[in-house]
Amino acid sequence: MPTVKLEKSTPSKANILVIPTFRGEEGVELPSTALVGSSELKSTLHALTAVGAKGKSGEIIRIPAPQGVKADSIVAVGLDKPESLDDEAVRRAAGNVARTLVGQKHVATTLGDFGLAATVEGLILGGYSTRGIRSTKADADEAPVKVTIVSNEDKDVFNAAVIGAEAVAFARTLTNTPSNELYPASYAKYLKNEATKAGLEVEVLDKKELKKQGFGGILSVGQGSSRAPRLVRLEWNPKSAKKSVALVGKGITFDTGGISLKPGAGMWDMISDMGGSAAVAGATIAAAKLNLPVKVTAYLPLAENMPSGDATRPGDVITHYGGLTSEVLNTDAEGRLVLADAIARACEDNPDYLIETATLTGAQMVALGSRTAGVMGSDEFRDRVAELGRSVGENAWAVPLLEEHEEEIKSKAADIRNINAKREGGMQFAGTYLAQFVTDDVEWAHIDVAGPSWNGGAARGYTTPRATGVPARTIIAALQDIAAEKKDK
Ligand code: BES
Ligand code: MN
Ligand code: ZN
Repeated sequence: MPTVKLEKSTPSKANILVIPTFRGEEGVELPSTALVGSSELKSTLHALTAVGAKGKSGEIIRIPAPQGVKADSIVAVGLDKPESLDDEAVRRAAGNVARTLVGQKHVATTLGDFGLAATVEGLILGGYSTRGIRSTKADADEAPVKVTIVSNEDKDVFNAAVIGAEAVAFARTLTNTPSNELYPASYAKYLKNEATKAGLEVEVLDKKELKKQGFGGILSVGQGSSRAPRLVRLEWNPKSAKKSVALVGKGITFDTGGISLKPGAGMWDMISDMGGSAAVAGATIAAAKLNLPVKVTAYLPLAENMPSGDATRPGDVITHYGGLTSEVLNTDAEGRLVLADAIARACEDNPDYLIETATLTGAQMVALGSRTAGVMGSDEFRDRVAELGRSVGENAWAVPLLEEHEEEIKSKAADIRNINAKREGGMQFAGTYLAQFVTDDVEWAHIDVAGPSWNGGAARGYTTPRATGVPARTIIAALQDIAAEKKDK
């Protein structure tokens, strides 16, 4: 990841200047920038025009610095038409440029003139990379670049954006980690360490404790694996807190489907089936670093879904935390089983709000594609969370739960069943399953990020390949929004 700093004036050692351009009526336009003097600005515009710059979105053009500019080169980043400029455009432009700067030394930019937070987020997230697990060390030309954002804006805005972007990076790295490294025990241990450092209270329930307290859903999903499940609870409880928010995130460290085994092709992507829990953990740590005046209690059910002689069979009946029984007709619909326990437990704390997120259904991608999360839950809060998601560039859309599923969820062998017989509305059926565990007085939002949590394609904007860290920034935005409420709202 690039190191990003905020300064009021151009650092003398900057050898690359990253400046924004616009797509004007008569070609590329160059807004004034603190990095280049007014007469040099003219020659820069000339040079850019000469090499065909248009200022289009996605355009990144590097030219030798003109006479009089104290740097080696200038990188012009297109922001497209000024009238269509928004935070997401700046974030994407900063992300695109960050990838071209890997291995460079000292960069200064005034992109922040058009959105400081968005510039910070785009640079950090677009420049994010993990090398994976390799036999060789990183080359010098893979070293993270140092970027100085030259701006007079408030340091607080800058710091908050860094914290948010780091939460996303935290979630990405966990989610990119293969499942032989990241399994419930190792994951819980890592979280305990990181969350404690950030000043959170941490509690980890192991298999014995899960049995004692009746977490039948988590145990059922984990029982086919030699790697026992865990339930991690993180708490941020500042004196200033007026509202309380429970967070829940799906933490399936690998999903084979269990006895209802998934096909082999593509199964490797199921290392990311804990992406929801990683986003929640990142957001909870961010809440502490931002010192948000809101109580946050996060529940992360961690389990590995494996087929074995000990695994749950289709047709088994399990008892969730709190007593509700469920007929498991498909062991690949395991996320809702671990989430049900965690939601039931979270509601015992009587939170004002509950935000839960999961890579829950393939049906989410059928309905909304791979970049737009499906948000279900209490009407008002669902709409609010979807809107907040869109406002931070994590696309999200409100989806209604379906009346017909109230009937379809009934089982002949237990209180409820874990799949619907007809496949229609699979994303919403999962939502209806979870709804059984949410107490009435809690404002609830369920975010299905099966698609958006993973980028199977090439880098675009600030979205790098593989784990995206979505919806960490949506959750942080929701926590900030709730923290800003009046007490008696
Ligand atoms: N983890 C999967 C959902 C998923 C699929 C996430 C693809 C990301 C990419 C989930 O546990 C699952 O297997 N869901 C089943 C549910 C079905 C059996 C009702 C699905 O969507 O096929
Ligand atoms: Mn599954
Ligand atoms: Zn799953």
